[in-house]
Amino acid sequence: GDARLIDTYGRVATDLRVSLTDRCSLRCGYCMPPEGLDWLPHEQVLSDDELIRLITVAVRDLGVDEVRFTGGEPLLRRGLERIVEATHQLRTTAGRAPVTALTTNGVGLDKRARGLAAAGLTRINVSLDTLDPERFHQITRRDRHRDVLAGLAAAAAAGLGPVKVNTVLLPGVNDDEAVPLVRWALAEGYELRFIEQMPLDAQGAWDRAGMVTADDIQRALAEEFELTPTDPRARGASPAQTWQVGELGRVGIIASVTRPFCGDCDRTRLTADGQIRNCLFARDETDLRAALRGGADDTRLAEIWRGAMWSKAAGHGINDASFVQPDRPMSAIGG
Ligand code: GTP
Ligand code: 5AD
Ligand code: SF4
Repeated sequence: GDARLIDTYGRVATDLRVSLTDRCSLRCGYCMPPEGLDWLPHEQVLSDDELIRLITVAVRDLGVDEVRFTGGEPLLRRGLERIVEATHQLRTTAGRAPVTALTTNGVGLDKRARGLAAAGLTRINVSLDTLDPERFHQITRRDRHRDVLAGLAAAAAAGLGPVKVNTVLLPGVNDDEAVPLVRWALAEGYELRFIEQMPLDAQGAWDRAGMVTADDIQRALAEEFELTPTDPRARGASPAQTWQVGELGRVGIIASVTRPFCGDCDRTRLTADGQIRNCLFARDETDLRAALRGGADDTRLAEIWRGAMWSKAAGHGINDASFVQPDRPMSAIGG
């Protein structure tokens, strides 16, 4: 039979997103409360070797060709470089090294960017919602704006490019910064993507009416820039719709809510505690940790993983009347 990760809609998952920890060095208000959350107990979190074993099965046996490390904040994981290196040493079913990528808040990245590049990291996406240090402090509840800017510069210098920046616009907080953020990113050589806020916060406070939409953002940018849509065929399964801004560079919008892209989804997810999720918004998870710790061999682990993808839903359902927010927040699932 087909060894790949296929679902009943014929989508094939080739992009593995691994959450390395549910903890974070920031406290963005749209993600978690100031006091943080009840973190996963240590014994439930997969060890570096356990993670590497599961990533190996995904890449070697299941057709995964891209591995993205997320969190919480993946830089909080001491073994990150070793995990990246072990992943980079693997070979896909096509005989190539998998693409390895990191999604990070950038805190502490300045000291680790070179080591990550040396370990074989291909690409990096860094979150930044504002150019103003005080606003940054308000949004993230930590005074680390300078660290993030230094992290971005270090990532670019280490060749982890093209560096992407992820921005969530919040009404009345930073929604006046769309244009300045794009100007800044173009000058620095980063590709900025605006992300529509999704119902994935720990507090359950997401509000559709209070969300900055892709239309809002496009309108604001069009007043200032000449936007040329990039070839839609080049988008593939990327969540971002992108535009060329003059000759200068590109900007993107990830419109998960108002322009869903679930039909092209190529993702499978592994949480820090070893649960497979076939969708960011899945209602249930498949316990790979129990199988792993119970002595299952690689063939069995691959079989469980394929089974977990088969039940993937057609889409996230955010726009359906029956929508229910997943029982874990984004920080525990991985973005
Ligand atoms: P690139 O390959 O660089 O485009 O990465 P990416 O955009 O997939 O990765 P990143 O971790 O930077 O994700 C950016 C945002 O995309 C996340 O914060 C989510 O908001 C959104 N996103 C990522 N994966 C999914 C997904 O499977 N479904 C939905 N709805 N949104 C997603
Ligand atoms: N909706 C959309 N994006 C979110 N992020 C965190 N929480 C949400 C949410 N509820 C963003 C972060 C980061 C990326 C990985 O996900 O700002 O840029
Ligand atoms: Fe941390 Fe990301 Fe959540 Fe901000 S959005 S608190 S950086 S996990």
